[in-house]
Amino acid sequence: METIVVTGGAGFIGSHVVDALLAAGKRVVVLDNFSTGKRANLARWTNHAALHIVVCDVAHGIFAALAPITRDHGPIARIVHLAAQVSVVHSVQNPLVDMSINYGGTLHVLEYARAQGVAKVAFASSAAVYGDVETMPVAEEAPCQPMSPYGIDKLASEFALDYYASVHGVATSALRFFNVYGPRQDPSSPYSGVISIFADRAKAGKPLTIFGDGSQTRDFVYVGDVVRALVAAIGDGNSRAIANVGTGGETSVLELARMIVELCGKRSKIEHAPARAGEILKSRARVDRLRDTFGIVAQTALVEGLRQTVL
Ligand SMILES: NC(=O)c1ccc[n+]([C@@H]2O[C@H](COP(=O)([O-])OP(=O)(O)OC[C@H]3O[C@@H](n4cnc5c(N)ncnc54)[C@H](O)[C@@H]3O)[C@@H](O)[C@H]2O)c1
Repeated sequence: METIVVTGGAGFIGSHVVDALLAAGKRVVVLDNFSTGKRANLARWTNHAALHIVVCDVAHGIFAALAPITRDHGPIARIVHLAAQVSVVHSVQNPLVDMSINYGGTLHVLEYARAQGVAKVAFASSAAVYGDVETMPVAEEAPCQPMSPYGIDKLASEFALDYYASVHGVATSALRFFNVYGPRQDPSSPYSGVISIFADRAKAGKPLTIFGDGSQTRDFVYVGDVVRALVAAIGDGNSRAIANVGTGGETSVLELARMIVELCGKRSKIEHAPARAGEILKSRARVDRLRDTFGIVAQTALVEGLRQTVL
């Protein structure tokens, strides 16, 4: 039985990856420090013999955490690296912490992969590497001008992946996620995904607040499609591949708020607050490379994904 490590496996996207890998009959090791991840996200697998949950801070290395597992079950075959400090705002407030988790954590994962002969590392990068691009859809060739330490550390991680692939022969892929949404996304922080915040408020019949006029657009991609992309990326023979993960479409935040209010069947009001300084106005992924390299096309229509998320 192949053993796959999922760093950040107790988080929103990570727990869905764990679901898919366990369902496919893999042994799964979750490495997580539970800073934003929750045991409840993995509760359905309690006492599952093929799931190992290890409390571990990736910023301090992963060798010691994995040693008991590899002693009992053999080497790690593949790693899905999702563990990260995920708040752009926190990264601006504390860039050194962001660097040690988001860039340092990636280096620790790659050092492990190099030393232990891991067959493939797939990394959760972000559309934040691009910064404010004007030409839509955003292609992978677009210049990267990140506007936050978070974006810088994701981009630096991509460079590290490429370096370990070309110099040390570690096969790697980086997937640049656009706006991921779905069940288990935490609405408790004001910086969480807008869908989880809107859904939380609409279900409670509370007003939804839009910053600005709501004409800003995002490429919202359902978590199930992101999981398919990650599973394809760890399993394939490609190395040094970088691909966007989005739908190729865009939805305005106002349109989104209306859809969520309608789905919830409540009469939440939509309110407007002043636009946030520096907010990106348009975002839409070019997705040809995801299809051509990994054979993945996002399948979940927004209304269907919202139904899975909200109801
Ligand atoms: N959600 C999105 O729209 C989106 C977009 C682009 C990129 N990403 C990336 O996808 C990945 C997963 O994000 P998510 O949305 O599931 O967020 P999340 O907060 O639910 O998941 C992050 C997980 O990493 C864990 N973690 C944080 N710091 C850690 C550390 N030092 N050591 C070990 N574990 C640690 C957290 O406890 C959590 O379980 C992240 O790398 C994030 O940057 C997400």
